[in-house]
This record gives sequence, structure tokens and C-alpha cells, in this order.
Amino acid sequence: MPLSQRWTLTRYLIEERRRYPGASGDLNALILDISLACKAIARIVAFGELGDSLARAPQAGSLNVQGEVQKPLDVLSNEIFVRMNEWNGQLAGMASEEMDDPKQVPHAYSRGKYLLVFDPLDGSSNIDVNVSVGSIFSILRAPQEVVDSGRDVTDADFLQPGAAQVAAGYALYGPTTMFVLSVGNGVAGFTLDPNLGEFVLTHPNILVPPDTQEFAINSSNSRFWEPPVKRYVDECLAGKTGPRGKDFNTRWIASMVAEAHRILMRGGVFLYPRDTKDASKPGRLRLLYEANPIGFIVEQAGGRASTGRQPMLGVKPTELHQRIGLVFGSRHEVERIERYHHEPIKREVGNPLFAERSLFRD
Ligand code: AHG
Ligand code: MN
Ligand code: MN
Repeated sequence: MPLSQRWTLTRYLIEERRRYPGASGDLNALILDISLACKAIARIVAFGELGDSLARAPQAGSLNVQGEVQKPLDVLSNEIFVRMNEWNGQLAGMASEEMDDPKQVPHAYSRGKYLLVFDPLDGSSNIDVNVSVGSIFSILRAPQEVVDSGRDVTDADFLQPGAAQVAAGYALYGPTTMFVLSVGNGVAGFTLDPNLGEFVLTHPNILVPPDTQEFAINSSNSRFWEPPVKRYVDECLAGKTGPRGKDFNTRWIASMVAEAHRILMRGGVFLYPRDTKDASKPGRLRLLYEANPIGFIVEQAGGRASTGRQPMLGVKPTELHQRIGLVFGSRHEVERIERYHHEPIKREVGNPLFAERSLFRD
């Protein structure tokens, strides 16, 4: 299709806004600023070691609130997200994986009615090996009292269930840069035209197929998995001759945003479930800026997102940087995994999980 007949992100947002005659356009303005931040990050990622921005990145090498080492690009991407959004008057505050506390909108700028939550660079451990990484964002409404008073935001203002998201999306910095967005009316994918510097609608109405033969999980954690997850994976691995009666394929990129994109494009299921590896960490991924936005997009595309036990978007957060077990993707597979979590655990002779001193003994 010639470019002249395609929609830009701007046009998509305007057409969406027409469905709400009373809408102010604030949300659109915010999403366009987020998309600009993503374009800026895409440039830096694409230049890799050739770029000089990395040398200027502040504080690289320090630990973030999760105790993870911040890479220079984590810090720089966070900075870009903050700077490109703090001035626009749409936000009451921001929160990010890379900031311990919420970021206030400086007094020099006006404050607005939305909260922006983001993982500025997901999969950043892959950056040194030139594998796809991305940015993930979630837009919430600020509590009315915050908007009325203009007061500083606190952690509590962000603790809203995923179902309350107004919009969510991600940018994927892969062979092409893509921006995938839901404003609550399905999911649309845009590809960055590097000549125009515009995101162009290339994937309208993305739908996740309900069935799949592909799953993604970090199997090095298998000894820490809970029995329902172990059962699910064992059954997939048993293939044609097992209870599923079909062969499965595995994929593990270790960039959740890239796995999410693959699943949106061709189906599949992703699991980073709650496990017993570290009692202080109920899951690897974070609820507010990883599980909720990806969950919102996947559900808007007809897939399903879950903790394994309950729908992700119904979880009431208790902490800004809360971790959670995450399962998402093709609807029938996620439903099956939830069912396994609710069925009584079958005792298996010889399974060490059920040994005398184990966690799961009766
Ligand atoms: P981040 O780079 O934002 O810290 O997130 C990385 C996440 C996610 O993208 C990926 O699925 C997971 O960590 C990889 O975990 P493993 O180290 O267990 O492979
Ligand atoms: Mn991440
Ligand atoms: Mn990150």
C-alpha cells in the first residue's frame, strides 16, 4: 500500500478521539510525546557503540530499587521518558522501574490529569548482544483529589488495578522499530518509517490466536516452579504422545516485550510464574509497568493475562515496584494454566516436590 494511503499514529489517535466528542485531546498529546521519547530511544539503541550519548549517561552502574544493576541505557532511556513528558501539562506524576519514588512534575510546568508509569528499557540485559529490547508504558487517571489540589503524587496514587488503565503500549526496538498501542478499543501496531520519522499504521486490529503450539519460559528455573506450572510444561514437552496430543515449540528471548510482540503476531504463551526461588520475590516481573500494560494489550487483542490464579487486570497493587507471577498469551492456553492452578495437586510417587520435608506435602 502506498504511504499516502496509510494512517500515521497522529491520524489514528484523531480518528479514535472522534468516538468521544467531549474528549479534550490531552490523551492524544500525551501518547504523541511518549512516542517521541520512544523514537529518541530507538535512535540511541540503533547507534549502539557508535553513539556518544552513552558516555554521557549519568549514574550508570548503580543499583535500581529492585537491586538490579542499571545499565547506561536504562538510565538514559529513563531520562528521555521523563524529559519528554514532564513539560506537557498532561501529567500529575510519573513512576518508573528506574526511579525508587514517583517523579513529580516540576513546579515550572502545569500538572494534568494522567499518571504515566513505564519500564523505559525492557530486556536491557540483551542490549550488549544486539537482541531486541523495548519500552513499556501504562497511562492511568490520577485520583480526582490529586488533580483538584495539584499536590505531589505518592506511591498510593499509582496503586490502581490494571483494568483502570486508560491506555497502554510498548515500543519494540528490533529490526524495525514498532509502536504498539491500545487506547481501550483493540490494539494497533505502527512501524517507524525511518525516512519520515513517523509511526505508520501497519498492523490494525491485532488479534492473538486463541490456540498455539509455542510456549516461552525460562526453564533454568524449573526446579523452583510450582506443581501446576511443572505439569503444564511437562505436558507440552511430552508432545504428540503426551496428554496434549501435539508437539510444542519453545522460544525464550529474555526480553518480555519482544516475547509479547511475537505472541501478538502469531500466538503463543509466555510464563514468568511465581516460583520458590526467592521468597522475597513473588515473581520476576513487575506489576505496574510490565504485567499490567502487557496484560491490557494482550486482553485488548483477545488474548488473556493472568497471575496463574486470577486475571492480572483485577489485581489490586500494594506496592509501586511490586513483583508478580505473569502468564499471558493465547486464551485457551492461559485458561488451561489457570485451571491447573485451581485443580488439586496430584501426588506423584517419586516426585521430590512431595517428599517428606517438601513444601507441598499434605
Ligand atoms: P528489565 O530489563 O526491564 O529488568 O526486564 C527484564 C525481564 C524481561 O524482559 C525478561 O522476560 C526477563 O527479565 C528475563 O529474565 P531472565 O533473566 O530470567 O531470563
Ligand atoms: Mn522490564
Ligand atoms: Mn527495564
